[in-house]
Amino acid sequence: MSPKREREDGGNGEKPQHKKKEEVAHPRKRFYRARAHSNPLNDASFDVPTRPEDFDWTDHFPEFLQEWRERQQQQQPEAAAAPASGDAADGSSTAAPASTSAPSSSSSPSEQPLVRFVDIGCGFGGLLVKLSTIYPDTLMLGMEIRDKVSEYVRERIAALRREQPGSYRNASVMRTNAMKYLPNYFHKGQLTKMFFLFPDPHFKAANHRRRIINTHLLTEYAHLLAPGGWLYTISDVPELGEWMRSKLESHPLFERVSEEELAADPAAGLLALSSEEGQKVARNGGATFRNVYRRLAAPRQLQQQQQQEQEKQE
Ligand SMILES: C[S@@+](CC[C@H](N)C(=O)[O-])C[C@H]1O[C@@H](n2cnc3c(N)ncnc32)[C@H](O)[C@@H]1O
Repeated sequence: MSPKREREDGGNGEKPQHKKKEEVAHPRKRFYRARAHSNPLNDASFDVPTRPEDFDWTDHFPEFLQEWRERQQQQQPEAAAAPASGDAADGSSTAAPASTSAPSSSSSPSEQPLVRFVDIGCGFGGLLVKLSTIYPDTLMLGMEIRDKVSEYVRERIAALRREQPGSYRNASVMRTNAMKYLPNYFHKGQLTKMFFLFPDPHFKAANHRRRIINTHLLTEYAHLLAPGGWLYTISDVPELGEWMRSKLESHPLFERVSEEELAADPAAGLLALSSEEGQKVARNGGATFRNVYRRLAAPRQLQQQQQQEQEKQE
């Protein structure tokens, strides 16, 4: 990248959308290099909440939540009188009950915003910062196991927030092991989109249990996804692409999203090129294998049985 270009976009490839208010220093990736892999089955000690309701998201989304609280205070009398509104059609609603129970499918302006999108193994955060401006009203979280890499993403978001006040306040990152701790952070049915971009392939058969898409974890992801929520995967490793397709295809709680639906979905168009790994694959002319599945409301066999019974009755 030329020094001029680096000065203009902070070295991150993001075009400033507004006139810069101040000259903001962006983090440099070379100072945040980490080991290529981290064993997700290691028992590294992470500080995790016992239950999702014990976790305070204020540090992750300070402006977003502050604005919501202020709106609450202003609107309290109106909110008490107004009927509850439904979720946005694209599943990007941010609101959920402030109560400790699982979120319901409907939401009202008085319900506390919750994280709806997660980018699992977000790496250097390329997808997250793109999604943030496309879905500015949706809270989203990148989850990354490597400390220096997650620190880079934290600095990257902080720099973007300073540079473009009012933007990127809906995106944040957390260092954690997503293979172990998702239920500590999210309620049943809370998430509407889960992204798995270029996950580590763990080639050796003995290490397949480290793969982040497997039948057992898909059941956990189905638990956290709202019915109708989407799980996005992409890989440049043909064998891993096929592995993820077959695990999703055979799972009773997922069905494949059609190409027509994908073509109309802004997030699906970002899978191949938004993240740093995707850009590397594209530079090397590599092929990619995309598999996107929808969380069904009920197990597929049960749905088929119900359909057959209904047909018999008709
Ligand atoms: C090949 S990189 C892809 C990064 C990013 N998704 C991209 O497309 O540029 C896989 C990432 O997943 C992270 N990762 C692996 N296992 C993880 C886990 N159990 N929890 C959170 N992150 C994990 C790795 O540290 C690494 O940054």
